[in-house]
Amino acid sequence: MSRIIIAGNWKMNRNIGESIDLANSIKRLLYDVEEVEVVICPPYTSLSDVREVIMETNIKLGAQDCYWEKEGAFTGEVSVPMLKDVGCEYVIIGHSERRQFFNETNEIVNKKAKAVLKEGMRPIICVGEKLEERKNGKTFDIVKGHVVNSLAGLSREEMLKAVIAYEPVWAIGTGVNATEGQAQEVHKYIRGLLEEMFDADAARSVRIQYGGSVKPDNIKELISQEDVDGALVGGASLKADSFVQIVKNCL
Ligand code: PGA
Repeated sequence: MSRIIIAGNWKMNRNIGESIDLANSIKRLLYDVEEVEVVICPPYTSLSDVREVIMETNIKLGAQDCYWEKEGAFTGEVSVPMLKDVGCEYVIIGHSERRQFFNETNEIVNKKAKAVLKEGMRPIICVGEKLEERKNGKTFDIVKGHVVNSLAGLSREEMLKAVIAYEPVWAIGTGVNATEGQAQEVHKYIRGLLEEMFDADAARSVRIQYGGSVKPDNIKELISQEDVDGALVGGASLKADSFVQIVKNCL
């Protein structure tokens, strides 16, 4: 497993045809990439077709959310076994847009993370403060609450399969990324929390991605930081050339 992980979160963008085109363009340039783990997370409706495109490549498939129950009367929801069935290895959990627009709490994020791990898949668990919270000096408190409560009750083994994405809300989709210093400061803090919750070895092994306005021209500085192990990319993952360039700039 490579240390650096770059995941593309397509959010609610791209219909099936567009998804196939985008996945094909990414595949042409990254099918055999080994030094960086590459994950793409299309909308639910495109998962099956994108799976076909990236089959037998090193590119992995991820979903953007899930529900924690396996099956049943939960109209509109998609379960983790269903995501496994369609070929997902990763599931993004607790993205700030889910927390903000769909009232997801740390408790919900925790249930989803456990459901993903139970199926042997890997959650990408998102944490991060809003602008107001940063301005009020609350960054570490908020991040601590997200990390400690979202990971509550996970075993050490489970933790080692999870990825954490530090995504300051003020940097998402704004074009204003956290500086490498700001990212490193929080990533280091998160690793310290993991050490307290698990142990130093586990804390060192868990990959912590940065997310928020990552572009080809800022990824190098970000991943040059000791505790930054990759990126969760939104806007720049919707164009093959910028996504591929972000990955290449990590090589
Ligand atoms: P962005 O989104 O790269 O467009 O800022 C990041 C994310 O939401 O994961």
